[in-house]
Amino acid sequence: MVILGLESSADDTCAAIVDSKERKILSSIVIGQGDSHHTYQGIMPRQAMDLHQRNMPIAIQRALAEAKLTMNDIDGIAFTRGPGMGGCLSICSTVGRAMGAALNKPIVGVHHMQAHALTHLLTEPNPPGFPFLTLLVSGGHTMMVLAQSPTSFKIIASTGDTSIGQAFDRVARNLDVPWYITIPSADGEPQRKMLGPGAALEQLALSTPSSGQPIPYIAPFPIPQRGLLALSYSGPSSYVTRLIESLTPEQREDEGMRIAIARRWQESAVGQLEEKLALALKQLELEGINVTSLVVSGGVASNMFLRERLRISLNNNDYTIPVIFPPPKLCTDNAAMIAWAASYRFANADYDPYDIRHKAVWPLEDLALEQTQI
Ligand code: KG4
Ligand code: ZN
Repeated sequence: MVILGLESSADDTCAAIVDSKERKILSSIVIGQGDSHHTYQGIMPRQAMDLHQRNMPIAIQRALAEAKLTMNDIDGIAFTRGPGMGGCLSICSTVGRAMGAALNKPIVGVHHMQAHALTHLLTEPNPPGFPFLTLLVSGGHTMMVLAQSPTSFKIIASTGDTSIGQAFDRVARNLDVPWYITIPSADGEPQRKMLGPGAALEQLALSTPSSGQPIPYIAPFPIPQRGLLALSYSGPSSYVTRLIESLTPEQREDEGMRIAIARRWQESAVGQLEEKLALALKQLELEGINVTSLVVSGGVASNMFLRERLRISLNNNDYTIPVIFPPPKLCTDNAAMIAWAASYRFANADYDPYDIRHKAVWPLEDLALEQTQI
C-alpha cells in the first residue's frame, strides 16, 4: 500500500508517503516551527496551531512532489490521532479525514507513541521481532514499554512528572542556550541552523571553551529514586535550576561553567535511563520474558551521547540483545512513522470512520483494548 501520513501533534508540521509493502519512505517533509517558538523559549500552543494551519497544505504538496505521485496513487491516509496538544492534533486529523472523505480513501488515526515505538520496523534491514523492550524518550513522554505486538504495549516504567525532553528544554532555557547554531554557507555568508533546545544543549556539551581555559569541575548531579523502577525528571531539572541560581552573574556567563553544567546534565539524565533500563531488563528476566531487542526512539533518542552511553551500558551489563535506534531524523517527529504504524491496520482493512475525534490524552495501553489485535 502507498500511504500518506500526516503529523501535527506538537511543533512540527509533517507529511510523508510510505510504500508499506516495500518498507520504503518515498518522501518525508518536516516543517519545523523553532524560528517562531525560540523567542518565547517554548512551544506557544496558539501559534503552533496557526503555523500547522498555514503549513500543512504546503507539506502535503511537497510530499507528493518529492515522491512524484498524485493523490490517485495514494491507497490510504494516516494521521496522528493523539496524544498531543488538542488544537494541534485537530489540524492533521481534520485534514486527513476531509481528504479521505472527499477522495473516498480509507483513513486510520494513529497513536503517536505507538508510531515512535514501531519506527525501526520500517528502517532496519532485518529488525528482530516481538516482544521487544522500547524506551520512548520524547518531549511528551519518558517510558519503558514492553511491545508485545504492533498494538499491544505494557508500560514497565514511566515518569509521573516531567518528561526527559521537557527537562532538556528547561535546562537549555535556564542556561539561555540559543536554539540554533551558526554555520558557514556555500556563499560564505553565515547561516542559522535551527536545532531546537535539546539538540542545542547537546551541542553545548560537545563544545570546548573558545578561550582554551579548562572546564571547571562540578560534582555529578544526583539520580533520583535509586533502585526503584520509576522515572523522574522534575527533581533533576529543578536541581540544575537551583545550581544555576546559586552562581554569581560572572559564573553564569562563563563559557566553561555552562559547558560543565550541560555535560553533567547529560550524564545524569542518561545515567538515570541506564540505571532504570538495567532494572527493567532484570524484571523482565525474572518474569521469564525474553525480549529480542532494546529499541530507543522519540526526539531525545537522536542525542548521540545517549546512544553511545546506552550501547556501552548494555554491553557492560552482559546483555547480548541488540540496541536499535532509528535514524536521528526519524526519532524526532515525522509523518513516515505515522504512515508506517497505520500500515498494520490498513493491511487488515481496519479503518476509522470519517468522523473519528482526535484524543489529546490517550494511554498507550488502551490500544490493546480498542484495536483489532494483530
Ligand atoms: O519526539 P519529539 O520530536 O516530539 C514529541 O513527541 O514530543 O521530541 C521532542 C523533544 C524536545 O524536548 C527536544 O528538545 C528533544 O526531543 N530533543 C533532544 C534532541 N533532539 C530533540 N533532546 C536532547 N538531545 C537531542 N539531540
Ligand atoms: Zn514525538
